[in-house]
Amino acid sequence: MTDSSASRASESFRLDGRHALVTGGASGIGEATVKELARAGAFVWIGDINLGAAEALAASVGSAKALHLDVTSPESIVTAAAQIKQLDILVNNAGIGHVGSIESTEPEDFDRLLNANVRSVYLVTRAFLPLLLAANQRHEAVGTIVNIASVSGLVGIRQRFAYCTSKGAVIAMTRQLAVEYPKTLRVNAVCPGTVQTPFVEGYLEKFHKENKEEIRTELRARQPVGRLGRPEEIASAVRYLASDEAAFVSGSLLTIDGGWTAA
Ligand SMILES: NC(=O)c1ccc[n+]([C@@H]2O[C@H](COP(=O)([O-])OP(=O)(O)OC[C@H]3O[C@@H](n4cnc5c(N)ncnc54)[C@H](O)[C@@H]3O)[C@@H](O)[C@H]2O)c1
Repeated sequence: MTDSSASRASESFRLDGRHALVTGGASGIGEATVKELARAGAFVWIGDINLGAAEALAASVGSAKALHLDVTSPESIVTAAAQIKQLDILVNNAGIGHVGSIESTEPEDFDRLLNANVRSVYLVTRAFLPLLLAANQRHEAVGTIVNIASVSGLVGIRQRFAYCTSKGAVIAMTRQLAVEYPKTLRVNAVCPGTVQTPFVEGYLEKFHKENKEEIRTELRARQPVGRLGRPEEIASAVRYLASDEAAFVSGSLLTIDGGWTAA
């Protein structure tokens, strides 16, 4: 062992030899997570509908491969799963937003949100469960899932009826799976506050084209720390939850929101 690999191996939160899949891994929180897991020593599959962006990211990361994956499509999930022979870490990150009260949320929007944010977690987790349950035949640690939920699953947010509903369900799925497989899987969720990603920029562009800066100030102000989160600040929590240091952590929610929900 060289000096540098010896000192790397003694670092905390290493994931050497582990294989991970990050859904929606080509942008924002997913992209930062791909980079962080690879930095920790994992091989990372980047599953995304945006194959071009996933391929560019894989090329820059090195220990990663792009995979066309639409988490709303059972056929796409089956095709993607056929390529993966080993999986230790599943990060259910792909998700979309929606703005509206119950009155302005049409049934088709509600279904779209639940499809992309909830049914997707069910379908992807179910497809990869056999590989995750087999993970500890290769090493001592059990397979692990990190779901990217949101503070919107913990508290009500105005004009986010369908989104809050969907993230509440992600939290419920996290706890249910942790209880169903207590010794053979670890399942946790991260609940980010508002994080600076294309997701938030897309929202500002679509709904607040004329008053972006005013709304940006409001988004910052609802987080007592006074700023938006950075994708890397979510990614390091995912790395921790996926690591052996978190071996006693299952069914937990890690809220990372600049103090928003403490108030
Ligand atoms: N940004 C925030 O403020 C914030 C806060 C809390 C939770 N989240 C959650 O974090 C996750 C990632 O959000 P982000 O801000 O990084 O978003 P983002 O829009 O930057 O990235 C989302 C990625 O998911 C991909 N994607 C979308 N639909 C897909 C599908 N059907 N199949 C596969 N990939 C798909 C997109 O192509 C994109 O690469 C989402 O689940 C979101 O709800 C975001």
